[in-house]
Amino acid sequence: MSIIVISASMRKKAQSLKVSEWLQEHLASIEQKASVVDLYQVKLPMFDGGETKAQNINKLLSDFDKADSFVFVSPEWNGMMSHGLLNLMHYIGHQMADKPVMLVGVSSARGGSYPIAQMRLIGYKNNHYVITPESLIVQGVNDVFNNHSFGKKEADLYIKKRADYALRVLVEYSEALKTVRKSGVIKLDNYPNGM
Ligand SMILES: Cc1cc2nc3c(=O)[nH]c(=O)nc-3n(C[C@H](O)[C@H](O)[C@H](O)COP(=O)(O)O)c2cc1C
Repeated sequence: MSIIVISASMRKKAQSLKVSEWLQEHLASIEQKASVVDLYQVKLPMFDGGETKAQNINKLLSDFDKADSFVFVSPEWNGMMSHGLLNLMHYIGHQMADKPVMLVGVSSARGGSYPIAQMRLIGYKNNHYVITPESLIVQGVNDVFNNHSFGKKEADLYIKKRADYALRVLVEYSEALKTVRKSGVIKLDNYPNGM
């Protein structure tokens, strides 16, 4: 399976990137091909309806088109999901359509659930992706995902096992939704904008 993990923090050395890289390495260890898109590196201009051309967007969209599934890793900033991810969503057409997306909310404190709730509402309609039921809320992120081993520390072990489970569910959805895309039922030309 080809899976793209989007680290949706625009900060240098973000904790969201650390989590994204752990998920990528873990996917590799269960024989899944995964790559990370880091929104700090990508630096997309603010979407303005298409007047400003983003240099790097075509390569990104072509990679999204080839991928089977996605993980969105959003920090909680000011009680909100990443506005960088929301900006990226405006550039996307149907490259993610009928493909599964696993959601991850990241907080250094006790947050992380607001980005999950907001990502469940925002973006899927015109982009047509399918959010899997198993999300991950990473709280106290500075203390977890700091090495690849599962280790023994309770909070770290718990969230890593939960991540392993959610990723395995994502992989199965990735396989299952290939059938939907090949079925002939999907008519995005007729119905491009969801409801
Ligand atoms: C501008 C800003 C606002 C933040 N607001 C919140 C918040 O509302 N709730 C929360 O739990 N953490 C908040 N944090 C802390 C993040 O949870 C913390 O930076 C964490 O590492 C995830 O962000 P990162 O991926 O950018 O590192 C905020 C951080 C920044 C930089």
